[in-house]
Amino acid sequence: MKQKFKPNILIVDDETSICESLQDILEDEGYNVVTAYSGEAGIRCIASEQIDLVFLDILMPGGCDGLETLRRIKQISPDTEVIMITGHGTFELALEAGSMGALDFLGKPLSLDIILDKVKEVVQKIELRHTQIAEERGDFERPIIGTSRPMQEILAKIRQIAPTNGRVLITGESGTGKELVAYAVHNLSLRDKAAFVKVNCAAIPKDLIESELFGHERGAFTGASSRRIGKFEQADDGTIFLDEIADMSPSTQAKVLRVLEEQEFERVGGGQTVHVDVRVISATNKDLQEEIQGDNFREDLYYRLNVVPLHILPLRERVTDLPLLIDYFLSRFCRENQKPNMTVHENALAVLSGYNWPGNVRELRNMVERLVILCPRETIEADDLPMELNRRGDPSQISTETPLRAAKNEFEHHFIRNCLGTNGWNITETARQLGIERTNLHRKMRQYDIKR
Ligand SMILES: Nc1ncnc2c1ncn2[C@@H]1O[C@H](COP(=O)(O)OP(=O)(O)OP(=O)(O)O)[C@@H](O)[C@H]1O
Ligand SMILES: [Mg+2]
Repeated sequence: MKQKFKPNILIVDDETSICESLQDILEDEGYNVVTAYSGEAGIRCIASEQIDLVFLDILMPGGCDGLETLRRIKQISPDTEVIMITGHGTFELALEAGSMGALDFLGKPLSLDIILDKVKEVVQKIELRHTQIAEERGDFERPIIGTSRPMQEILAKIRQIAPTNGRVLITGESGTGKELVAYAVHNLSLRDKAAFVKVNCAAIPKDLIESELFGHERGAFTGASSRRIGKFEQADDGTIFLDEIADMSPSTQAKVLRVLEEQEFERVGGGQTVHVDVRVISATNKDLQEEIQGDNFREDLYYRLNVVPLHILPLRERVTDLPLLIDYFLSRFCRENQKPNMTVHENALAVLSGYNWPGNVRELRNMVERLVILCPRETIEADDLPMELNRRGDPSQISTETPLRAAKNEFEHHFIRNCLGTNGWNITETARQLGIERTNLHRKMRQYDIKR
């Protein structure tokens, strides 16, 4: 796992000398440090910047003492860790602070070693939290497997565009690897240390998507009990991945268009303009041209998003990628399930190559995982494959109600498709194997609409 996290630390103390000496020590260690000489100033800082850790003095003059400041920090930014600085006789207050969510407390005079140990401890804790979030998103090393010409072209294009800020629109059927490609563009870019934030525009209820994207201020609507930072702000300096963009409502489309044009927006219920530096990658499995024709998608937004188009072909049109993908998933799932390495017999590969993979790589991945768990042998044979794969073109599975001509056509269609698959779609070789002329094979492929 790459070291991606550098915490921002805030020191709040009315004694300027404490602020300054602590700041010097922490900055020498490479941390980003800001200071505030009162509770109010500290809260303003929390509201306007991402702060990971606060050193907070318990006794401060004015209406906003340490405990009140702590309460408001936790309200605005619950994930920010707070360590209280306690002077003589404030032990009880420190205990109370603990019950209000403070992580720890340090007694004055402050000891250099203890401070640095504490900071390291907090950094580890926050890093662990980030890793957990990353793993929930499936954010580990994710290679893109594929040696077919179309996949090689995609990989070359990813390398070429990654270091730029160019917006990318990824299209392709469900399960073809759009998210994987989006992540690769981010990971190979200069923004890789910052966040890759994914938004599934189809999964979020229409009336919540604006708050999800742009955040909201406390009280913006019923239930908005505290300020929320939206996805565009979370992705500042990084990448936002807008998935299933065809499902955005017209009003959200208009707001996204404005962020793309001006890199700024307002939180829902807030007047303050927020500026961000975000690269936008979007994806859809719908035909956006059709959505534009049907007045469901703004044409101006389409042109803003589609600076670099990346179209991923369905798996059935690049079956030469199958053997490598199968090997990759086999070794991965065998390792995960602590099983010895498994292989696929040629007869199974032939069936797999002839299948049309409506769910693309995701379907293949799930099938391989299931086979690893269920297949008792180390070599997977055609018979081990799910029924729906074997059935196609299997004469015994064609309904006896079918007229002979239709049954013959059904068989011929799938038989030819399987042969093409096993021969890597080499027409000459397939025609030779079938004992027919190449022109005849071409004619039959047209007849059955068999395409690579
Ligand atoms: N070329 C590939 N190499 C390795 N794994 C792949 C490849 N393509 C897809 N996958 C895997 O297949 C699964 C589906 O990929 P992904 O989620 O990126 O597809 P998608 O196009 O975004 O699908 P959807 O449109 O349904 O959201 C993931 O587990 C992904 O890691
Ligand atoms: Mg996806």
